[in-house]
Amino acid sequence: MKAASFFNIRAVRGACCPLFIIFSPLSVCCEMDDILMDRKWSVRKGMEILKTTDLSKYYSHNGTVTKAVDHVNISICKGEYVSIIGQSGAGKSTLLNLLGGLDKPDAGKVFIKGTSIYDEGKNLTVFRRRNIGFIFQSYNLMPFLNVWENIILPVGIDGKSLDKAFACELLERLELSAKKNSFPEELSGGQQQRVAIARALIMKPSIVLADEPTGTVKLVQL
Ligand SMILES: Nc1ncnc2c1ncn2[C@@H]1O[C@H](COP(=O)(O)OP(=O)(O)OP(=O)(O)O)[C@@H](O)[C@H]1O
Ligand SMILES: [Mg+2]
Repeated sequence: MKAASFFNIRAVRGACCPLFIIFSPLSVCCEMDDILMDRKWSVRKGMEILKTTDLSKYYSHNGTVTKAVDHVNISICKGEYVSIIGQSGAGKSTLLNLLGGLDKPDAGKVFIKGTSIYDEGKNLTVFRRRNIGFIFQSYNLMPFLNVWENIILPVGIDGKSLDKAFACELLERLELSAKKNSFPEELSGGQQQRVAIARALIMKPSIVLADEPTGTVKLVQL
């Protein structure tokens, strides 16, 4: 299976959905039906930044069990860029939520920079905020905050001092400077998603996870 790239996401089978990106020039395609990882084209350098071991998440409903994520083992190094594609319902969002510390696995572990995130207990929220940038498909912007306030929100929650030059650079590069004082309802879909991207990057996270990140966004070279 050939590598996916940000600009040329490969359809593996039928209607596929690009799922997440971790910045880098790499090449991993993962077909979610059977979690097929093909690393023939990848050059693996640097430290392992994300790893899962037998990660599983099952849903039960009326006696039927859906194995949304079933014993997934992934290893991703710093600098790698990964796209996961698979059919609707294959488990992409479920996996992404588990990788991002947003859901709890039924079994298995997620390690980010060597930390088993689900063993962090109450510290998981802080760990997540400082290490993982998450771009939601539905943006999840705060409607009562303007663009600037939405972008810098994680910094305020974390009690850190703002790197204003970096925030302004994000605004500029994501072509949001003119919309700095606008509220989400006054933005186009693409503008809203770029605000979500800036918010995911403002904490300079180790990993960026994005669920269907190219739906409305004009690609911007950062
Ligand atoms: N909260 C839930 N309760 C029960 N089943 C669920 C729940 N969330 C997801 N599922 C099931 O788990 C499977 C995987 O869902 P998931 O949302 O991860 O798929 P996906 O690959 O992201 O699909 P899509 O491309 O349509 O977004 C599906 O069969 C779905 O119905
Ligand atoms: Mg999904």
